Amino acid sequence: MPPAPVTGFLLDVSARERRQPAAFCERDLTVSDLTTLEQTILTDIAGAADEAALEAVRVAALGKKGSISALLATLGKMAPDERKTQGAAINVAKDKVTQALTARRDILKSAALDARLASETIDVTLPLRDAVAEQGRIHPLSQVMDELTSIFADMGFAIAEGPDIETDDYNFTKLNFPEGHPAREMHDTFFFNPKEDNSRMLLRTHTSPVQVRTMLNQKPPIRVVCPGRTYRIDSDATHTPQFHQVEGLVIDKGSHLGHLKWILHEFCKAFFEVDHINMRFRPSFFPFTEPSLEVDIQCRRDKGEIRFGEGEDWLEILGCGMVHPNVLRACGIDPDVYQGFAWGMGIDRIAMLKYGMSDLRQLFDSDVRWLSHYGFKPLDIPTLAGGLST
Ligand code: DAH
Repeated sequence: MPPAPVTGFLLDVSARERRQPAAFCERDLTVSDLTTLEQTILTDIAGAADEAALEAVRVAALGKKGSISALLATLGKMAPDERKTQGAAINVAKDKVTQALTARRDILKSAALDARLASETIDVTLPLRDAVAEQGRIHPLSQVMDELTSIFADMGFAIAEGPDIETDDYNFTKLNFPEGHPAREMHDTFFFNPKEDNSRMLLRTHTSPVQVRTMLNQKPPIRVVCPGRTYRIDSDATHTPQFHQVEGLVIDKGSHLGHLKWILHEFCKAFFEVDHINMRFRPSFFPFTEPSLEVDIQCRRDKGEIRFGEGEDWLEILGCGMVHPNVLRACGIDPDVYQGFAWGMGIDRIAMLKYGMSDLRQLFDSDVRWLSHYGFKPLDIPTLAGGLST
């Protein structure tokens, strides 16, 4: 069988390894052969586009069946002198190839790393996306109720609650609104149809009936706040038929107006998050308190903004007074032993003041865009220690 045609060293070597007579093995390896082989391998190394291609070149040259390994294997058949010169020459070529492989591998490695870094670049300055659980928003009214309760809880108040559907007795009579008194008419009440006994249920017009329920159920000393929904027939930019109030009630043997003033002052500073606030207590009338007062806080209105603790304007925020002896008596508390004070405040209004909302009706529109702007993150739970709104 004629020997396979010589087309290159690689072919020759593989022919030899198949233990076939290889043309190149049968003749002397010349320096120029070696140089050509070396050049071919170095060109292949330089042309290897990635680490896998480079590894293929390495295996083809230095692997078990590689071209240079095959040349080294021919040394055994040579005469000692020839082996010395050929061996040295082949080893020089092998070293060159090995160095070229290492150098090329380093280049490819760092190029691969650069490419990976470029493709996996992360812009760490991008804002974080909220986790799904954090995308919902707490309604500003709920947040403000949490703020109120955390302030009063810090002063030692408990929360008391009552039903939205109330009796006329608790909403009016026990609070010293006599039948036919004009103060009843001022409350624009939603009444239910009369029952058989002619009594009428109603949607509570204020949170004050929770005072009655608390005094009927607890013995003094009493310290409660009662946040909740209230209803009146009224609807415009500053009134909605359903709104929110928070009531406060303190009953004890020595409670007096000085305590009330201190509590309200501390509350206003904490709620509006200012160090100093001026308050004005004006005489007023409520059937369930005597004396009765209305409270204004000092503020500055400037280009649609409002600031507290400074300025020339006054803003009415709540009603209060000493609980009327008739109310204490109607609720089973002896007015000759106990006395106390109470206050009532519109939550919607102070929420709007604090968070700069312009139209009360938006609070009840359920507009998600409005809510995502004015709402609060679920984990922003207001505490006095952690900060109310920050
Ligand atoms: N209930 C009153 C209202 O809705 C507010 C109020 C005023 C409550 C004085 C009180 C108080 O407890 O003492 O207009």
